[in-house]
Amino acid sequence: MKDSAARHKDETVITSDLLRQLAYNEKMAELGKISAGIVHELNTPLSVIISASQMIMREEGVPEAVLEMVSRISSEARRLSHLTRGLLNFSSHDETIGEIDLNLTVDFILNFLNYEAARRGVVILKRFDHTLPVIRSDANLLKQILLNLIMNALQAMETSGGKLLVETSPGNADSVCFSIADNGPGIPAENIERIFDRYFTTKKPGEGTGLGLFVTKSLVENMGGEVVVTCRNGGGTIFTVTLPVKL
Ligand SMILES: Nc1ncnc2c1ncn2[C@@H]1O[C@H](COP(=O)(O)OP(=O)(O)OP(=O)(O)O)[C@@H](O)[C@H]1O
Ligand SMILES: [Mg+2]
Repeated sequence: MKDSAARHKDETVITSDLLRQLAYNEKMAELGKISAGIVHELNTPLSVIISASQMIMREEGVPEAVLEMVSRISSEARRLSHLTRGLLNFSSHDETIGEIDLNLTVDFILNFLNYEAARRGVVILKRFDHTLPVIRSDANLLKQILLNLIMNALQAMETSGGKLLVETSPGNADSVCFSIADNGPGIPAENIERIFDRYFTTKKPGEGTGLGLFVTKSLVENMGGEVVVTCRNGGGTIFTVTLPVKL
């Protein structure tokens, strides 16, 4: 059992690391505010494009080839509009503690990272349990946990043939689980004990702070849950997070 001075020191260190990540997040938030303005402005012309293309498609006598092109314009504009709304939603600070559908939150982050996955040629497989209870948690913190773990998995799969399997499942009594499995190179035995340490990184300077997993573990444990890492035979890594249904 730690005495209170040691515990106080630990808490101070965790707080200063969280503050460091928060400062970084603040900088990103500033950038986010600027882009949110641009994204917001994009929504108006996008709505015009969507409704104008629908009007053309309702016209009679429009040649098949034109209809085909207009329908492509419409679906691409919808995709952009969906993406921009997602970005605005993600940069929002409004959400606090509330009832969360884990599957929807995981799906939201996967959509958000779709581009990051696509540019690495990573195929995403989802295996969701649709009988999960809603959980009481902080949606923004849960998104940050998912973002850290999924980004790490994507960054580990830089070579072709990457597969990301994201599963949700009921945990033991009153808990839910999600796991993120990749088929990257795995984590060498000599590093596995250190990956949750603050500032531990194998990435090049400027590419990683080594705070992602440290902050992730702190957030999960603050929520009363746990995060476990396993390395698969034949390569690949699985991170499994268990969270209580109620905070
Ligand atoms: N899915 C994974 N596959 C292989 N190695 C991993 C995986 N996830 C984490 N690691 C290892 O753990 C280290 C620490 O991860 P962590 O998220 O804490 O920091 P980082 O990703 O290096 O930097 P940051 O998260 O600040 O960008 C990584 O540098 C990497 O070596
Ligand atoms: Mg990371």
